[in-house]
Amino acid sequence: PSPTLEYQVADLDLASAGRHQIRLAEQEMPGLMALRERYAETKPLTGARVAGSLHMTVQTAVLIETLVALGAQVRWASCNIFSTQDEAAAAVVVGPEGTPDDPRGVPVFAWKGETVEEYWDLADRIFDWSGEAVAEGGDYIGPTMILDDGGDASLLVHKGVQFERAGRVPETKDEDGAEMRALLNVLRRSLDRDPQRWTRIAQDIRGVSEETTTGVHRLHEWDRDGELLFPAISVNDSVTKSKFDNRYGIRHSLVDGINRATDVLIGGKTAYVVGYGDVGKGAVDALKGQGARVIVGEIDPITALQAAMDGHQVVPLEEVASQVDILITTTGNEKVVTVDDLLSLKHLAIVGNIGHFDTEIDIAGLEQLDGAERVRIKPQVDEWQLPNGRSIIVLSEGRLLNLGNATGHPSFVMSMSFTNQVLAQLELWVTPEAYPVAVATLPRVLDEEVARLHLDALGVRLTRLSKKQAKYLGVDRDGPFKPDAYRY
Ligand code: NAI
Repeated sequence: PSPTLEYQVADLDLASAGRHQIRLAEQEMPGLMALRERYAETKPLTGARVAGSLHMTVQTAVLIETLVALGAQVRWASCNIFSTQDEAAAAVVVGPEGTPDDPRGVPVFAWKGETVEEYWDLADRIFDWSGEAVAEGGDYIGPTMILDDGGDASLLVHKGVQFERAGRVPETKDEDGAEMRALLNVLRRSLDRDPQRWTRIAQDIRGVSEETTTGVHRLHEWDRDGELLFPAISVNDSVTKSKFDNRYGIRHSLVDGINRATDVLIGGKTAYVVGYGDVGKGAVDALKGQGARVIVGEIDPITALQAAMDGHQVVPLEEVASQVDILITTTGNEKVVTVDDLLSLKHLAIVGNIGHFDTEIDIAGLEQLDGAERVRIKPQVDEWQLPNGRSIIVLSEGRLLNLGNATGHPSFVMSMSFTNQVLAQLELWVTPEAYPVAVATLPRVLDEEVARLHLDALGVRLTRLSKKQAKYLGVDRDGPFKPDAYRY
């Protein structure tokens, strides 16, 4: 094996299986492949060191290899303990030119079924560029860019800097969950080794491109509190991301996850979906498409009214829980399903979350419930036998089930998301002066460009505005076509 290539994956012998899937995925990811072609000569990401924290799937492999084709160096971890496809991780490490005995690809630190302690150790490793620095004779220790999904990589840097300023990592408190304890442990060790490590790492970071609603939420909080350390681009707020991946991606991968986990017929069942945002709309479409009767829970009058006009009953969960066969959370919020709700469901009801973190269903409460017993049916599928004599089937321990029980969204829609990711990395790297320390979105013209790159594959041909029509509308014939406030 290459002496400088570090990695921690399940099994490099899976690489050829992963490579076949990557090859097929490339065909379905026209946006990324167009960027590779466009920038093959100029390699505009040369010099960029990207620390990536995003589900290590086949689609992400195509993203990583696109960043490399554009000149970047990359280190990668997953952003969820269950979402790695081990064959994809192996193929990225081995690389298109290497073999399992002589890997020549990219450092990846991820496998399916990490513990939370391992998870934060692996997140830490994408920030350790000391091997690269020695090999290149560089005076850096960390990355120049973060590519994040859910904000955990950015959180590590922000917490690291915060504790270094305070000179100590706070004691673990009783109410801290396992995740927080593991995070604090990693930072405690780091502070012991080098009390300025995260401060120095943060100084070199030109920016982060963030993939999802929940991560963008974190960035806005840091920005509001004056704590944001570097510029950020919300990829999620590109129309060609959240209105496609969150909706049409979920429409595909929610049912995929339920089916691979349970093989229960969805038609005729009563499903309850908590949240009717972009992800909720996709989830409801999917379940309705399978013939389920879908009830929606919402807190926001606008999205509640949308659900009603789309033909769904909208009522709080506690009023209908006893009728529910399938319960799905999509809010990005915490404890939207309580232990009382779980106790009220029908016998063998399927319970799953598709929002980013495992905070939505009170699994911790379930674990502490007297008389409740967990029976492992298979990996990422648990029957919980409840003290009232009924059982529920919990998918992926309340973590996002489309990536825990299946393989996430399909390639085509991820091509749209990841084309936005690459464009965001290019913006931050090539024109940093345009991005002060704040949360920005990509300009609409790039958003339209992402859509354009995906039209041919679907046989879509646009109608062209005449010069007179363009003048009448007050837009350029080549776009952008809508004002920034337009909601799609
Ligand atoms: P969103 O903000 O569009 O929708 C969330 C909805 O939940 C909102 O309409 C909100 O009013 C509602 N909500 C919040 N608290 C509630 C409560 N207590 N009861 C009922 N409704 C409540 O967000 P989006 O884009 O739909 O994302 C939702 C989550 O899914 C986020 O955590 C996001 O990061 C994640 N996500 C997961 C993906 C996956 O592949 N699993 C893909 C894309 C996003």
